[in-house]
Amino acid sequence: MKSLSPRPGDLEPIETASRDEIAALQLKRMKWSLTHAYENSAFYRARFDSVGVHPTDLKTLSDLAKFPFTTKSDLRDTYPFGMFAVPRKKLSRIHASSGTTGKPTVVGYTARDIETWADVMARSIRASGGRAGDIVHVAYGYGLFTGGLGAHYGAERLGCTVVPISGGMTERQVSLMNDFKPRIIMVTPSYMLSILDEFRRQGIDPRESSLAVGIFGAEPWTNAMRLEIEQAFNMHAVDIYGLSEVMGPGVANECVETKDGLHIWEDHFYPEIIDPVTGEVLPDGEMGELVFTTLTKEGLPMIRYRTRDLTRLLPGTARSMRRIEKITGRSDDMIILRGVNVFPTQIEEQILKCRNLAPHFQIELTRQGRMDSMTVHVECIPHGADPASRAASAKELAHHIKSVVGVSTRIEIRDPDALARSEGKAKRVIDNRPKG
Ligand code: DLL
Repeated sequence: MKSLSPRPGDLEPIETASRDEIAALQLKRMKWSLTHAYENSAFYRARFDSVGVHPTDLKTLSDLAKFPFTTKSDLRDTYPFGMFAVPRKKLSRIHASSGTTGKPTVVGYTARDIETWADVMARSIRASGGRAGDIVHVAYGYGLFTGGLGAHYGAERLGCTVVPISGGMTERQVSLMNDFKPRIIMVTPSYMLSILDEFRRQGIDPRESSLAVGIFGAEPWTNAMRLEIEQAFNMHAVDIYGLSEVMGPGVANECVETKDGLHIWEDHFYPEIIDPVTGEVLPDGEMGELVFTTLTKEGLPMIRYRTRDLTRLLPGTARSMRRIEKITGRSDDMIILRGVNVFPTQIEEQILKCRNLAPHFQIELTRQGRMDSMTVHVECIPHGADPASRAASAKELAHHIKSVVGVSTRIEIRDPDALARSEGKAKRVIDNRPKG
């Protein structure tokens, strides 16, 4: 793989600014954002008034802790447009979550918000190793999901040629990649694995493809998966993070030259880590729930939005802006099995240690009496499909999970291609426990 360090002059000045300069800009913008939310959104005015805080109470960045949190249920309660801080006519775009649990959450952008988003996405693609003139294959879903259009506008802003293929029709994804020769692909890591299978099915060597960089996000994935994909395609695999409530993709991104966690674009999104139980702000370096305050967003300012994503804040390296460690998972996805906390990413890591297993898996939860149990359904590779290899793989995986994660699990070795493939975010956990 070629090294892809940025050339001098490639970066925006703020990306290498001093911490003092960044903090000064954040304070100025935070004052604006709190005032904008308070003056223009009835929701925020009522929320701030209810705890007796006013935007003028913010004198330093740490004063933000005086302000109340915002959660996904606030967006649901004010569905569809109740939290916006501009008249509806000023919005140039709406996105929404899929709403599999209850009403969708709706987010809105002014024309300037769309510009800001394109800027941070262009910065993210550049940090990943993308350059003006590259062909960018965007296989994130287009539509109400922010992945496709977010990537699209950013790639255009950077000066790339965009192929807006969206998710699905995997056979065509591969044949178009063969014909158009993109240098960059943007897609969820789980869908990239389906694309990998399709390369092999068509008898095309993925290591000979034109791809130099993959920008993967929208779901948790591990460093073990990074290695798997990088080796399979002989390409760089870089992590991108974001969420619709805060903007969409492009809130934080890894730098290809370090791949050591994701730099938060702190000039637009102010991060905090809190104790998810007490809500107390934790010092940098400690693990907790990530919270964001938008600093420049007009349509839907987010003040102390609780993401439910678990990670920690680390100092800057390739850029001066702070990093988040790769996300372990969402607190919603945490499985508590007989008192032990388990994240799907931990299972992924153990599967990737087993030579005869493929990285396609699903976790099923069941209950017998009062005992919860977990079954890991995982595919074997074609060479490991004979009964003896299957039995050995099941034993090996159960052993790794028991010794590293600390829980006993049943392992079901499935045939190659037996599990449903994702075309976007993978569904890792099937909960078959009785409800209530
Ligand atoms: O997933 C935005 C996005 C699109 C990000 C494309 C990256 C690439 P939502 O659908 O609102 O937005 O889901 C946001 O997805 O709170 C995390 O739980 C999870 N997530 C997003 N990126 C990552 C990542 C988009 N790199 C939710 N690692 C977030 C782990 C991620 N989890």
